[in-house]
Amino acid sequence: MSTRPAHTDLPYSHAGDEDQARLEALSEALDPITISVLEALPDTGDAACLELGAGNGTIARWMADHLPSAQVTATELDLRHLEAEGRKNLDFVRHDVTQDQFPEVAFGLIHARWLLHHLPVRERVLPEITKWLAPGGHLVLEEPALFPPCRPPRTSPTAVSPSALSPCSRSASAPTAARPPSTWPAIWPNSA
Ligand SMILES: C[S@@+](CC[C@H](N)C(=O)[O-])C[C@H]1O[C@@H](n2cnc3c(N)ncnc32)[C@H](O)[C@@H]1O
Repeated sequence: MSTRPAHTDLPYSHAGDEDQARLEALSEALDPITISVLEALPDTGDAACLELGAGNGTIARWMADHLPSAQVTATELDLRHLEAEGRKNLDFVRHDVTQDQFPEVAFGLIHARWLLHHLPVRERVLPEITKWLAPGGHLVLEEPALFPPCRPPRTSPTAVSPSALSPCSRSASAPTAARPPSTWPAIWPNSA
C-alpha cells in the first residue's frame, strides 16, 4: 500500500474549482514572465525538456509548441486536469519530485515554478534535480519572493510583486491583500 498522502490531503490540491482558479491565477500572472525567461535561453535544439510540478500545464504546453522537435515531460502529483491536447511531443506523468527519479543527464532544459518553496526537503531535492540535467543544459527555477513594490533593490521585483499579488487580491475580493504591510523593509535585505 502506498505511504504517500492522497493529493487532496496536501496543502495544494487540484481537487476543487478553487484549486483550478488558483492555478489559473498563477498562470495569468506569471506565464508572461516565465516565457520571456525561457525565450531568452540559448537554443536547446531537440534536447528533451522537463517541467516539474506543472500545475495546470500552460508552460508545459508552451514548451511543446515552442520546441516542436523536443520531447517534453511534465510532472505532477495530480494529473486529473492535465491534457496534452493533441501534442505528440508532450507527456504528463505522475511523479513526486521528493521521491521519484529520472535518469541522469536526461534533459537539456529543466524548469520548475513555485514548486520548491512548498517542499520542506527542497535542499535534498535540488541536487537530485541537477543530476537529471545534461552538461550544458539549463535549469530554470522560479520561486516567489515578494518585495515592496515601491522601492525594490532591483527593477525585476517591481514587475513581479504587483503581478503576483493582483490575482490574489482579485480572487480574495480584499483590496488590502494586495498591499504589503508598510512595515516591510524598503530595501532588502533589511540593512536597518
Ligand atoms: C504553486 S503550484 C505551481 C504550479 C505551476 N508550476 C505554476 O507555476 O503555475 C505548485 C505545484 O507543485 C505541485 N507539487 C507539489 N508537491 C509536488 C511534488 N512533491 N512533486 C511534484 N509536484 C508537486 C502541486 O501539485 C502544484 O501543482
